Amino acid sequence: MILVTGATGRVGREVVRLLADRGPVRALVRSPERLAALGPCGAGVEVAVGRYEQPETIAAALRGIRRAFLVTTDPFRPDDEVFLGEARRAGVEHVVKLSALAAAEEDAQDLISRRQRAAEQALRTSGLGWTLLRPRAFMSNSLAWADDIRSTGVVSALHGDAPAAVIDPRDVAEAAVHALTQARCVDTALALTGPEALSARERTARLAGLLGRPLGFRELTVEEARAGLVLRYPPQVVDALLESAVRLLDGRKAAVEPDFTATTGLLPRCFDVWAADHLSAFAAVA
Ligand SMILES: NC(=O)c1ccc[n+]([C@@H]2O[C@H](COP(=O)([O-])OP(=O)(O)OC[C@H]3O[C@@H](n4cnc5c(N)ncnc54)[C@H](OP(=O)(O)O)[C@@H]3O)[C@@H](O)[C@H]2O)c1
Repeated sequence: MILVTGATGRVGREVVRLLADRGPVRALVRSPERLAALGPCGAGVEVAVGRYEQPETIAAALRGIRRAFLVTTDPFRPDDEVFLGEARRAGVEHVVKLSALAAAEEDAQDLISRRQRAAEQALRTSGLGWTLLRPRAFMSNSLAWADDIRSTGVVSALHGDAPAAVIDPRDVAEAAVHALTQARCVDTALALTGPEALSARERTARLAGLLGRPLGFRELTVEEARAGLVLRYPPQVVDALLESAVRLLDGRKAAVEPDFTATTGLLPRCFDVWAADHLSAFAAVA
């Protein structure tokens, strides 16, 4: 039995869907209603309700589990350490952790990268088998542009000409499933990127082509970007996101890595495929 945390999230939900075809899987969720609202996730998926702030719920979800997919999102809490403590007690053998490529890059010293690096270290020294999935930014981050594209036809973004080798989160899930089911992925870190580096301006142009209408692009100043981010995130997270974005400027996020294909035998999806599959989010309501 495999436990999937973050099962209502972008990557975890897809991991549940892919694993459900292969064998027994248990989905950890805070809200079964939210999981149900996302639609059917596969016959025979067990649901466990829990959250990292309540370790006893994690302990209960881990009963009978040998392998687990770990997603954490809060840079202010030691959720990885809580989960790993319970996993050791439960006799789990292998944890596949969703981390980030910046965790492996020494010059990334923002809050989020430092937390991921500490959490990676906790897993590597836990005594459990480990796999670190280190993706570059998700293609799905472009969904943040959907409202503006629908209402004004203009995308506004920071560092608009700086390229990043963005990845489809469904490919992160594919890599997770391979890591959870193949012994050769134990005690390994995988650098996961898409097949090409694209700037925000280039992604906007690809979306325009698929939508069949022109889209404008406006470069945000750092202060304009900050003003938008503070509406959604705490100040320390805003600082971390802006600090991380600076690394786009000298091409530090542009490298295309081979690990996805080497591990899965698949080609990573290109941005156009992700965008075509999510086009309805960007299309103007008739
Ligand atoms: N986005 C990117 O570009 C990017 C790039 C590289 C790495 N990453 C990493 O990817 C991870 C995020 O993955 P994602 O996008 O799949 O996540 P997501 O869509 O934001 O979903 C987060 C999941 O975690 C669950 N969750 C949140 N707080 C929880 C808690 N206290 N206890 C138990 N479950 C909790 C959420 O449940 P609810 O549905 O109940 O909220 C949800 O299922 C982060 O570690 C991030 O650093 C992201």
